[in-house]
Order: sequence, then structure tokens, then C-alpha cells
Amino acid sequence: MPNLTLELDPRIVSDLLICPICGASLRVSENSQSLLCGGTKTHCFDGGGGGYLPLAPRHSGGGDSKEAVRYRTAFLSAGYYQPAADALCELVQKYIPTDGIMVDAGCGEGYYSNLVADCGYRVAGFDLSKFAVDAAAKAAKRTRGDRPSQTLYAVGSVFELPLRDGGADGVINIFAPCAPAEYARVLKKGGYLMVAGAGEDHLFGLKQVIYDDPYLNEGRRDLPVDGEYFNLLDKVTVTFDITITDYAHMEALFSMTPYYWRTSPADHEKLCGCAELHTPVTFDFFIYQKI
Ligand SMILES: C[S@@+](CC[C@H](N)C(=O)[O-])C[C@H]1O[C@@H](n2cnc3c(N)ncnc32)[C@H](O)[C@@H]1O
Ligand SMILES: [Zn+2]
Repeated sequence: MPNLTLELDPRIVSDLLICPICGASLRVSENSQSLLCGGTKTHCFDGGGGGYLPLAPRHSGGGDSKEAVRYRTAFLSAGYYQPAADALCELVQKYIPTDGIMVDAGCGEGYYSNLVADCGYRVAGFDLSKFAVDAAAKAAKRTRGDRPSQTLYAVGSVFELPLRDGGADGVINIFAPCAPAEYARVLKKGGYLMVAGAGEDHLFGLKQVIYDDPYLNEGRRDLPVDGEYFNLLDKVTVTFDITITDYAHMEALFSMTPYYWRTSPADHEKLCGCAELHTPVTFDFFIYQKI
């Protein structure tokens, strides 16, 4: 069983986390195996096998599958998106002091949140997929070695975060559902929200291999309305080219796209014949400040 006192940053538990059922504060139990609710004794959350917490009682079972998480981990850990991750870390450092608490809403396997933690921030990552947060917690443990934990990973919905009002300095939301009202609730006044989505030509090279008539991306439809909860401060587009020669990585990248599940087997086959995939990668980062 994991020792939660070591696996979780205790300051995140005390400063940010609340019971997802009644909203009372939480504390680590004396045997360090679970989180106990300060409101009702029956609300108790056992640490998962890998040091993550099950804090989405009403949403259990959703989010990405084990297979989807495995594919994405394989692709991201190969470093293809490093320039985007570097750009995100720069933006976080530009706007938020390093003693700030960050939330990664829809954190997946923690690729971005663990890098933000490496820059010195405390980060709480939430995802509906227990496979994703399990991988995130394990990756955090691998990278930090003997250093104290600066992260906390939990199964949780971005629409109902188990976080107190106004406790976070920043929220990052990378290619995951955007919940502006909920992010505004958990952010301090003046706190920052950074949302990343696919730019116009993101993965256009991949689409050219698969489709006869590839189309440009339209952009995210779930961004905050400027002036409602948030003011839009900036839009930063980060674009670079990648070349993939390993077929497993091409397949993994394809699986990360929304069109993977709706592509016909015949179109999917075209990827097998591709010896080298060249494609632009374009992330649009939208930086908002809570009003
Ligand atoms: C495309 S992945 C992005 C993951 C990560 N941010 C990244 O860029 O590597 C979208 C993630 O959102 C998660 N997700 C979907 N709906 C969610 C929700 N309502 N609350 C929390 N996470 C959710 C999925 O499980 C998945 O891990
Ligand atoms: Zn409770």
C-alpha cells in the first residue's frame, strides 16, 4: 500500500483539497493509507495502488482507457512534444510565482504536470481515468527520486473538482474538457488559466497520409467566453515539425487524435505503408486571468 504522507505534497492536501462528498477539509490518516474527511467519519478515501486518490465518487469509470493511456505514454515519453511542454513551462513561469499551487485539469498521465512540478511548482492533477492518474503518480515518483513530493494525483472530474474555492494560483488544461465556471471557482482572484488546444494545421501531415481530402482544425469550441469569469490576456501559438519513423509511435499518435475511432479500417491501413511521417505540430495556448 502507498504511504500517502510521502506520495502526496501535504501542503496541497491542507491548502487545497476538500472532501468530494461534503466539501469538508481532508487529512491523511495516522497509518498514511487514506484521506479522512473532517466532516463525517464515513467519508474515507483509500490511496490507490500507485499513490493516486479516488476522489470522483459520482464519476467512477470514465475517462481514457488503459490502452489509450498506454499509447499516449509511449508517444509523449519519446519527447516529440517537448517544445510544446517547454513553451507551457515558460508561460507558467512568466505568470505564476514558483511558490504557487497549480491544478492540471484533465492531466492524463501527468506529462505536462510533472514537468511543471519539476520547475518548482506544487501541482494537483485530476483526470477521470484511474489508469491515467495511476501512471501520473508513478511517473512523478520515478522523477523525484528521494525528493519530497510536490504533486498530488486523483481521479476527479474537471466539472466538479474536489478543491476549495479560490485556493489555486493557476489551472492548466491541455487537450482536455474545459470547465470555465469550475476553474474560476477554484482559482484565486487574479489567478491564471492556461488552455491548450490544436492549432489549425496540428497534425496535418498525419491527416494527409490517411485522408484523401484532409481538413484544417477549427479550434476549440469550449473556451471561456472573454469577460465571463475570465479576461483573455494572450494567445500563444507554438508550432514545430516532427518526423516519426517508428510505426508504433505513428499508431500511438493517431490513437491520441479525436478521429482515430471514426476512421475506416481502409484509411487506417494507409498508415502501415508510411515509412516516415512528417507533420507540423501546433499548440494554441490561451492565457486567461480570473476577473
Ligand atoms: C486528450 S487527453 C489529454 C491528457 C493530458 N492533458 C495531455 O495533454 O497529455 C484528455 C484527458 O481528459 C480526460 N477527461 C475526459 N473527460 C474528463 C473529465 N470530465 N474530467 C477529468 N478528466 C477528463 C481523459 O481521461 C484524458 O486523460
Ligand atoms: Zn466528507
